[in-house]
Amino acid sequence: MFLKKEGIPTLISRRRFLHRAGALATGLSLERTLAARAIAPPTALDPNTLKPFVDPLPLPTLLKSTSSRPDPESPSHPLPYYRVAIEEIHQKVHRDLPPTRMWGFNGTSPGPLFETRSGHGMIVEWANRLPAKHFLPIDHTLHGAEADQPESRCVVHLHGGRTPAASDGYPEDWVAPGKSLVYHYPCRQDATQLFYHDHTMGINRLNIYAGLQGIFLIRDEVEESLNLPKGKYEIPLMLFDRFLRSDGQLEYPVSGDPKSPWVPEVYSNVMLANGKLSPYLDVEPRRYRFRIMNGSNARFFRLSFGDLAEMHLIGGDQGLLSAPVKTTRALLTPAERSDIVFDFSAYAGQTLLLKDDSFDIMQFRVAATASKDDSALPATLRPIERIPESTAIKTRRVTLDENMNKVQESMGMLLNNTPWHMPVTEKPVLDTTEIWEIVNLTEDTHPIHLHLVRFQILDRRSFDVFRFQDTGEMRYTSRALPPAPEEMGWKDTVRCEKGHVTRIIVPFTGYTGRYVWHCHLLEHEDNEMMRPFEVIAGS
Ligand code: C2O
Ligand code: CU
Repeated sequence: MFLKKEGIPTLISRRRFLHRAGALATGLSLERTLAARAIAPPTALDPNTLKPFVDPLPLPTLLKSTSSRPDPESPSHPLPYYRVAIEEIHQKVHRDLPPTRMWGFNGTSPGPLFETRSGHGMIVEWANRLPAKHFLPIDHTLHGAEADQPESRCVVHLHGGRTPAASDGYPEDWVAPGKSLVYHYPCRQDATQLFYHDHTMGINRLNIYAGLQGIFLIRDEVEESLNLPKGKYEIPLMLFDRFLRSDGQLEYPVSGDPKSPWVPEVYSNVMLANGKLSPYLDVEPRRYRFRIMNGSNARFFRLSFGDLAEMHLIGGDQGLLSAPVKTTRALLTPAERSDIVFDFSAYAGQTLLLKDDSFDIMQFRVAATASKDDSALPATLRPIERIPESTAIKTRRVTLDENMNKVQESMGMLLNNTPWHMPVTEKPVLDTTEIWEIVNLTEDTHPIHLHLVRFQILDRRSFDVFRFQDTGEMRYTSRALPPAPEEMGWKDTVRCEKGHVTRIIVPFTGYTGRYVWHCHLLEHEDNEMMRPFEVIAGS
């Protein structure tokens, strides 16, 4: 199942393997998805041997600031200061398993909840207090992860944050244990759910898998005026799959080549909700708001409540939609967020599951009666003006490529056929708008993320891949399909399906400087499917 960068596995197995991401993304058969699930290592935990729904869903604790520091942009103005220790922890994922070794923030994984208001900045000291040795298999053949580098490097990125370049967590800005990074997050952006995570060159898939991610909420008046469910009726929920061994410890799959253990994608045997395996949550029969984030390395989710109960999607990556979207399933690729209102009032006294196509994730125990529900689900949320294509001063065609060796085995993926270390080629001008045509030439679906900016999806359109590869000619084979209703809001991560050109329109506002764009399948990102871009000042 797991493919080596070179050598043995056949093209056929590879193709079957790669089917999976596309299958989920396009809503194809569950059988195919399940068939493509990873082969468990011999010591794998069988999650069916554990009693489900015995642990309450953990809710991340709100991080409190203890002091202040001057605002780097106006030094007479103090900003709240947070110190977050990145350290090794042992945490129980299930009542009947021993504690699992992980890496976390201030003692937990996922890390504590950050919450601030739009325009209310902060200073965060990210302190690397990790042990010198990594506990997951580093591939020293990957760029940036060479054997002469410290093992437990880390650098934190605020995903979706409009952050000055020096505080953005550039992959090469990592620090070794004992050192800190002090970052400034101005948070001048609309209310939304961001998340923070490790971004270290060459090992970011391992550091995140070890536990280095957490939720970060930004509030504003527009959101507050809507009277959405809040307080204990608003549930931050980070979901990710992990391979657990029968001793409860994390296993990260390897290729079989000890010199080059990298595997192209990881799908695991258990699903964790806020770090717990099959937890339950006591709820009242009333409206709740769920702030859901896909924190998996590679797994796509299609989430549903109960037997396809109706839910309302009210927001995505970069904030509220213009109006709620009624649906029964929510599709989330890695790094995408979904803001969901679900009404339990029809389920008083019952239980209900939150499911993915491959897992029952957690159980809701609905009480018989509710306290008064004065929250609302307004018919309109936040006006979103669609950006006219005519405002774009440039259209950039960028490609997603598969990097093949001589025997046509995949060695990994690239952006624009260009490895990370090559000179910067994408240099948008500050305060201009560009259209990016993302041409997917691979057999896989990739969630593509740009730092700093928010963007809108214009459309997706299938094309003749072979003709394009042979002649460079773009021949479309379908009409341009508009984004799904829930994708009509502001985004920072876009699902780029195989054989499609995905067009996004991107206002480059905020800051000049060096940022990155990349695939958010973490194994791809770590193996060259990441490129810098540089926002430059206009003349
Ligand atoms: Cu979620 Cu480059 O990040
Ligand atoms: Cu990818």
